Amino acid sequence: MSKIQMQTPLVEMDGDEMTRVLWQQIKDELLSPFVELKTEYYDLGLPERDKTRDQITHDAARAIKKYGVGVKCATITPNVQRMSEYNLHEMWKSPNGTIRAALDGTVFRAPILVAGIKPAVKNWCAPITIARHAYGDVYKATELRVPQGKAELVFTDREGKKVRSAIYDFECGGVVTGQYNKDSSIASFARACFNYALATKQDLWFSTKDTIAKIYDGTFKEIFAKIFEEEYRAKFEEAGITYFYTLIDDAVARVIRSRGGFIWACKNYDGDVMSDMVSTAFGSLAMMTSVLVSPDGNYEYEAAHGTVTQHYYRHLKGETTSTNPIATIFAWTGALAKRGDLDGNAQLTAFAAALERASLAVIERGTMTKDLAALWENGTPNVLSCTEFIRAIREELEREQSA
Ligand SMILES: NC(=O)c1ccc[n+]([C@@H]2O[C@H](COP(=O)([O-])OP(=O)(O)OC[C@H]3O[C@@H](n4cnc5c(N)ncnc54)[C@H](O)[C@@H]3O)[C@@H](O)[C@H]2O)c1
Repeated sequence: MSKIQMQTPLVEMDGDEMTRVLWQQIKDELLSPFVELKTEYYDLGLPERDKTRDQITHDAARAIKKYGVGVKCATITPNVQRMSEYNLHEMWKSPNGTIRAALDGTVFRAPILVAGIKPAVKNWCAPITIARHAYGDVYKATELRVPQGKAELVFTDREGKKVRSAIYDFECGGVVTGQYNKDSSIASFARACFNYALATKQDLWFSTKDTIAKIYDGTFKEIFAKIFEEEYRAKFEEAGITYFYTLIDDAVARVIRSRGGFIWACKNYDGDVMSDMVSTAFGSLAMMTSVLVSPDGNYEYEAAHGTVTQHYYRHLKGETTSTNPIATIFAWTGALAKRGDLDGNAQLTAFAAALERASLAVIERGTMTKDLAALWENGTPNVLSCTEFIRAIREELEREQSA
């Protein structure tokens, strides 16, 4: 069988620990035998990031802007413990944060559903995609611990004119924070959400707490409403999908009562928290995909989970682990399908769909990794190591390809 050819390279970003091990196995077993992989490789593993003083991450972000599609393995975000474990020169920033900032992107996270694993919320029958505004708010906040005294918000404009507003007159010690966001970033977020809703033909919900944060969250609400009216209402009507805004507390109640099958756009913190709730309620963090979409149409695909450190330490001791590779496989299929679509390469897009089908077919027949076994509802599951599980997917894919 001749291998599928690619016209344009994918930006391939390798990562750390157990997911780095999976990355290589997925390439060797599930991709390279079928596709003449054309990638521009960036090693975002922590040793290489440290060696290049994180230049490699910035180079990878630039490459995504050049080629339009990237696929990323999970990476370590260093903390104090990692500083000594890897003998680092500096506590390098999260590569995801760096890439998000460079692309000004919005992160869409969606669960992968399989027959035999029912969501904890029994009425959910279709995926709920969380769109998280990955810029600003509490993640870029300035914080202070303060003694007794008066806290004020002071803004100085370009002409030196000041606006002051009292925050609180502290009669005892306390805490203060200053957060910001930018109209341009909120507008990019809105357009990314509207475009993604159109591309996937799903309704879009957006929620904030504008009754309390009247100016801050009110700005998010107004920018979304204006852009929707001016640029998207007609396109949504034509596609038969809707946009609606509601308060975050109302949204939470509606989400739980819903059947799923829509996109829920959230501010940065809400999206961080709600995506973990949604992924857990759908089954497992290891079954959640993530794609970063920039307003100018660049895409970066990855698994939503981290580097599965505990499994890696066991792997280093020579033990076999039953790490779930599904979300990492789907990061590759997402990227290959998008590359296929952009290049008009139908064979590549079809291969990505076939690999997804094969992966899910293996699970649906009762063969899976340990994390899924606990959620399985159709009899006794056949639990495999990650290597064996990837091999089972390969056999299924070969069967399908030769049929
Ligand atoms: N996108 C990313 O690159 C990303 C995201 C989150 C965390 N991280 C990094 O990953 C490292 C570990 O972080 P963490 O432990 O908080 O997150 P994690 O996602 O690696 O693990 C969280 C929990 O989920 C389980 N789990 C996750 N993925 C699994 C899989 N594929 N198969 C089976 N079980 C799975 C783990 O065993 C663990 O109990 C940290 O260094 C962190 O910085 C990276």
